[in-house]
This record gives sequence, C-alpha cells and structure tokens, in this order.
Amino acid sequence: MVPPANLITAIFFALLVFPVISIAQKPTTFSYHIFNETHHNVFKSLGVASIDGGALQITLDTINANVSLSYNSGRIMYNKPFKLWEKTASSSGGNSPDIVASFNSTFLINIFREEGWAGGEGIAFVIAPDLSFPSGSDGEWLGLTNKTLDGDPSNQIVAIELDTEIQDFDPDGNHIGLDINSVKSNKTVSLSDFDIEISPVNPKNYTVWVEYNGTTKVMDVYMIEQWMPKPSSPVLSETINLKDYVNQYSYMGFAASTGEQVQLNCVLEWDLTVESLPEKKDWKGVKIGVGVGVPVVILLLICWAWLLYYWLKRRVADDPNILGKLKSLPGMPREFSYRDLKKATNNFDEKLKLGQGGFGVVYKGVFPKENIEVAVKKFSREKMKGIDDFLAELSIINRLRHKHLVRLLGWCHQKGRLLLVYEYMPNGSLDNHLFGGASGRSTLRWDCRYKILADVASALHYLHNECDEKVVHRDLKASNIMLDSNYNARLGDFGLARALDNEKTSYAELDGFPGTFGYIAPESFHTGKATRESDVFGFGAVVLEVVCGQRPWTKIEGFELLVNWVWSLHREGRMLEAVDESLGKDYVDGEAEKLLLLGLACSHPMGRERPRAKEILQIITGSMSAPHVPPFKPPFVWASMDPIASSSYSASGSSPPCVTPENTSTAFSLV
Ligand SMILES: *[C@@H]1O[C@H](CO)[C@@H](O)[C@H](O)[C@H]1NC(C)=O
Ligand SMILES: *[C@@H]1O[C@H](CO)[C@@H](O)[C@H](O)[C@H]1NC(C)=O
Ligand SMILES: *[C@@H]1O[C@H](CO)[C@@H](O)[C@H](O)[C@H]1NC(C)=O
Ligand SMILES: *[C@@H]1O[C@H](CO)[C@@H](O)[C@H](O)[C@H]1NC(C)=O
Ligand SMILES: *[C@@H]1O[C@H](CO)[C@@H](O)[C@H](O)[C@H]1NC(C)=O
Ligand SMILES: *[C@@H]1O[C@H](CO)[C@@H](O)[C@H](O)[C@H]1NC(C)=O
Ligand SMILES: *[C@@H]1O[C@H](CO)[C@@H](O)[C@H](O)[C@H]1NC(C)=O
Repeated sequence: MVPPANLITAIFFALLVFPVISIAQKPTTFSYHIFNETHHNVFKSLGVASIDGGALQITLDTINANVSLSYNSGRIMYNKPFKLWEKTASSSGGNSPDIVASFNSTFLINIFREEGWAGGEGIAFVIAPDLSFPSGSDGEWLGLTNKTLDGDPSNQIVAIELDTEIQDFDPDGNHIGLDINSVKSNKTVSLSDFDIEISPVNPKNYTVWVEYNGTTKVMDVYMIEQWMPKPSSPVLSETINLKDYVNQYSYMGFAASTGEQVQLNCVLEWDLTVESLPEKKDWKGVKIGVGVGVPVVILLLICWAWLLYYWLKRRVADDPNILGKLKSLPGMPREFSYRDLKKATNNFDEKLKLGQGGFGVVYKGVFPKENIEVAVKKFSREKMKGIDDFLAELSIINRLRHKHLVRLLGWCHQKGRLLLVYEYMPNGSLDNHLFGGASGRSTLRWDCRYKILADVASALHYLHNECDEKVVHRDLKASNIMLDSNYNARLGDFGLARALDNEKTSYAELDGFPGTFGYIAPESFHTGKATRESDVFGFGAVVLEVVCGQRPWTKIEGFELLVNWVWSLHREGRMLEAVDESLGKDYVDGEAEKLLLLGLACSHPMGRERPRAKEILQIITGSMSAPHVPPFKPPFVWASMDPIASSSYSASGSSPPCVTPENTSTAFSLV
C-alpha cells in the first residue's frame, strides 16, 4: 500500500532534517522586564520566595503584614536546566580543552531597607544542580547552604553573592563574592571601593552583569546603578572552570536570606543567554543512544503520520457513497490518473496554459493515442473545502447534459490534488475574442455575437428550469463562456463555485479577481448568495459586453459602469451609439436595440424585476418582444428583497437524476 517513492522521501527527509536540528544550535535566551503571576510556570519559587509586585521576591516582601521578616530564606529558579558543559572523548587524555557553555545573566535588583533597618543578609545569583532547597538556610547561609551542607562539594553550587551583613569570614557588610559550595567566598571584593551600596537607605536599583566565557573560563561581574552604561571594568573577575564544580545540567536563579537584620531582596528584571552545547558531541559517550534513537523516533513518527494521512485520504476517496455513485452512473465521465494528466499536459507546461480562473489554472492536454484534446483544470489546493461536498456536487454537474454546456470528461483526485478534465474548446473563451489583447482581437461578426448570446441563454434556461435539480451557475461572465470550433458557445464551470466553496461564491475573491466585479448583482454583494436572479444579472452584463465590446466595469463618459452609460443613452434615445464601434455598420439595428434593452432589463437592481431565463430565451429567439426599460435606472432597495423571488438553489442528492436528452431545450434556431 505504501509506494516506495514516498517512503524514500520520508527517510530522506528525516535524515536531512536530523543533522540540521542537532547542528543549528541557537543559544537559549529569555528576557523578563516585569514579572507577574503567570510566570509561576516558568520559575520555581522555593522557601519563602514569591512572585509579587512585578518582581521576584526572593525573601518575604510583606512590609506591612504582621509577619516577621527576620530569619527567612528563599530561592527562585528558572524551571528548566541548562547544559553547561560537555564530556569530551579525550578528557582522560587531557589534551583537548573542556567544552563549557558561555552565558550572560543580566539582572536588575532592588535591595530595600527602611530607615532603622541595618540591612541583611544578602542575595546571590546561583547555579544549582536541582530545584531542591536546604532548610535552615536563613541568616548567614544566604539561601545557598546551611550549617551542615556548607562547604560540601556535593552541593555543586556556584554563586555570585551580594552580601550586606558582615560575618567573621567577610571583609565588610557591603561586598560581592564568588561562592563555590559555600558562603565562605573564594574571592570577595568590597563594593564600597566602587561607590556602590547594595542596600542604601535611599532606595536604588542596580544592574548586575554576570558574564561567563566558557573558552577562557573567566567569570566577570559588572555592577552599576540602573540606567548607567555598563562599566568598562568588572567589579569582580575570576577564572573558574565550571565543569569542575557544577552539574552538567544545572539550574539558574536567585537565592537570598535575612537574619537578625532584614531587607527586601527583589529582582526586577532578568535577561539570560546560555550558549547551547550540541548534543551530537556525545557520539562516543554514553549518549550514543540519543544520537541514534532520536532520528529513528523522528523517522517512525514521520512514517506513522504519513501512513495515517494516506489511509485517511484513501478512506475519503473510496467512500462508496460518493465515488461509487459517480462511477455507477451510465455514460459517466472517467477517472484519470494524475500521471496521465501530467503527461498529457507536458507536466503542466506554462506554454499550454489556457487560462486562469478563481479556482485554478486550465491547461491544454493531449492524449496522443486516442487523439483527443482536452482542457485540464488544476485546482489550487487552498481553495479546496470538503472533498465529499465537492464530489457530491460533481455528481450533480455530471448529470447535466446540454449542447451549450462544456462537457466534463472526467476527473482526477489523487494525493490531495483535484483536477477536472473538460472538452477542449479550440476557440477559447468569449472573453479572449472580445478583448484578446494586442494579437488576439479579431472582431466577432454580429451574427456570431447574436448566436453566442442565444446559446448562453439556452444553457442558462436549461440550468435554471429544465433540469430537475435546478442549478445556479454562480459565476456567469465572459471568461466562462467557451467557443467550440464552429463558434457555438458553451457555458463552463457551472456550479463549481458552490461545489468548491459551499455557500460562498467567487464573490469572495473580489480582491484577487477584480474582473468579476461588474457581473455581480447588488443583492449578492450583501448576501454573498447566488440565485437565479443573480445569474440573470451576470447574463445582462455579458449581453452589454458582447454588444458594446466593452468590459462591464469600463468607465465611459463619466459613468462608473458600462450599464450606467448604456442606460443614459437609452434615456436620450440614442442607444445604438453604444454598439461596438469596431462593427462599423455591420449589425442589425433591431437586434442590437433588442439586446441592449434586454441587457438593461437584466441589470435591474431589483432581482425580481429582472426577466427570467425562459423570457430571455424567448426574447432572443424572437417569440417575445423586447422588454420595457424605464428611462432611469431604478435604485436598489434592500427591504423589498423577497424570499420567494430569490429562489436559492439547493442540491439534495435524493432527487431523481436529471438526465435530459440533448437538444430538448433548443426550441429555437438561428442561421
Ligand atoms: C504577565 O507577563 C506576560 C509577559 O511576560 C504578559 O504577556 C502577561 O499579559 C502578563 N500577565 C499579567 C496578568 O499581567
Ligand atoms: C501581630 O503579631 C503579634 C505577635 O507576633 C500579635 O501580638 C498581634 O496581635 C498581631 N496583630 C495582628 C493585628 O494580627
Ligand atoms: C555575553 O556578552 C558579551 C559582551 O556583552 C558577548 O561578547 C558574548 O557573546 C555574550 N555571550 C553570550 C553567551 O551571549
Ligand atoms: C540542611 O539542609 C539539608 C537538606 O535540606 C537538611 O537535611 C539538613 O537537616 C539541613 N541542616 C540544618 C542544620 O538545618
Ligand atoms: C574555593 O574555596 C574552597 C574552600 O574554601 C576550596 O576547597 C576551593 O578549592 C576553592 N576554589 C577555588 C577555585 O579557589
Ligand atoms: C527600580 O526599577 C523599577 C523598574 O524599572 C522602577 O519601577 C523603580 O521606580 C526603580 N526604583 C528606583 C528607586 O529607581
Ligand atoms: C571568550 O573569550 C575569547 C578570548 O578572549 C573570545 O574570543 C570569545 O569570543 C569569548 N566568547 C564569548 C562567548 O564571549
């Protein structure tokens, strides 16, 4: 069931993607400039710490509450670990340098004390192996260690402390220090030399930069008052190989404590960037399983997803209710394979492109063996809605047979692509003949134009009235009227708008296809619905277009639309001036006048005032006289839209099949 080509594609894709994932490592980075409750799932609060007042409160912040601020401690850690170093293959040999991640941690702190508080104990930026928290870490232990743990190498803690309380091992009560597994710092620097008071009586914010270079193993700490530029020299600089002290995967965050003396330990902002070490360096280590396992899992996932997709597709396509119904009908169009259509159109050669519509591109195709020429409509995938709806609709379209409708020869639905195969129309679209551009424009003779309109009218009458399941064309315009080798007109693409997009018509595509503009009835602008009346409106636009040789949306003599100009000529009794100049005198006055009046009547702003398809056909064939058209174009009045007049088409599969023999509708003849 699985074509090998697709499997190979999937494997290739997986192999292609995996190295990209593992090599293209971006540093892990985040930036918080205000903290709120929603960040509880990003940060882990330990001890008495909380996220409150827009800041990380590492120790209690409830100044006014009736709780003691003394002797408490806490931590807030980013809840995901970072890989900070790499086991190197030759680490035993000792030649190759250790791979250690560089990182930058920049934070804004506010260490507040009220007048009368001495300030204590301190706050620290900490790297820790897990999210645990030692009890009894208040006072001098800074939330980092406690009496029993202090100095234990298994702590795997490295911290930068900002200490506001002097202990016997400290230089003063206002210093910075580098701590390794102990609050007894390996290096301390008094900040008083830098004009910095960590917890001043007048509150100040300080920005602190902790920068670690994994190559040089140098840790630099810069500190200055908020808003001041980063100083050129660090307050503390120490070489430390983190690999010797911290866990390979470590957490980062803040710890703080109070003692007899208290202060508020707030982190207001935090930016962190940690270099991402590639996992693939683990090839020779114990992590070899990851290197092999991950692509295999990805591969399996891709295969599974693909199989599921394929199975679902098959299930839809094989639905006996739809395809079966299509196939079982007598004289049904055939199903083509995508490969055959691709071959017939020379791989959808741009040179064989016949046109482009709202729903896709049409190509000419040739089946040399059978010596058949076809038009292949390839739908753009985004436009596809429910495929069952579409096929159900096609089954209705399939049953329509009329010599002035373009015949559907077959369809293809494979790999999510949909194509329809129509009879090839050697003379292209009416649109091309009227406005074919520089090369194409050959003036259509008058009798030819008249006959084309008669053909279209008979097709419209068939769609609206003669078939059991009344079909609304929905997209009547010159580019949908095709001409066969004898210049017989054939209406194409009927019903497709609905089939493709359920309730919507191609009105929805006005932006992309301004050409549809003049063909849309005013009421359809409002409702977005197509009705028989709106089809008649479109037909009226085509009639005026064919007689005048102008696009419906052409601005002439100050009129916004062709129809308004013709209406003004009608009012002034010189309507024949509207006839296409390129015809010269080669047209029949009576017929031209009749068609222009018909065109105006069909363009009536009120749907129910427009003639019906049957009357249109009778007028064109001469069994009914030209319609009466008022001198002024009536206004469009929304309120009088009446539901009975606007008989929407509805497709119900239960109606008896509509197989009308050819010719029954052409009760007229034109020479
Ligand atoms: C919390 O902060 C995030 C940004 O980090 C923001 O998107 C969100 O709206 C904030 N929530 C509240 C309640 O302020
Ligand atoms: C505040 O706490 C003290 C003892 O810690 C207690 O005596 C006092 O009643 C408390 N006041 C209030 C309003 O809870
Ligand atoms: C840290 O900052 C320094 C200078 O500001 C920069 O050169 C370095 O690339 C940064 N490192 C990381 C890991 O972002
Ligand atoms: C220090 O912390 C550890 C871990 O939480 C705990 O088991 C131990 O009892 C603590 N020691 C003191 C003196 O509180
Ligand atoms: C830091 O100090 C501890 C004991 O205080 C000592 O064991 C360790 O070697 C020192 N580390 C450095 C990098 O100085
Ligand atoms: C500290 O920074 C915060 C946030 O930028 C600001 O709201 C506050 O006013 C600052 N405090 C001082 C004393 O500058
Ligand atoms: C670390 O230091 C080396 C040597 O000074 C430098 O080339 C490199 O860019 C630094 N790395 C980072 C991330 O700052």
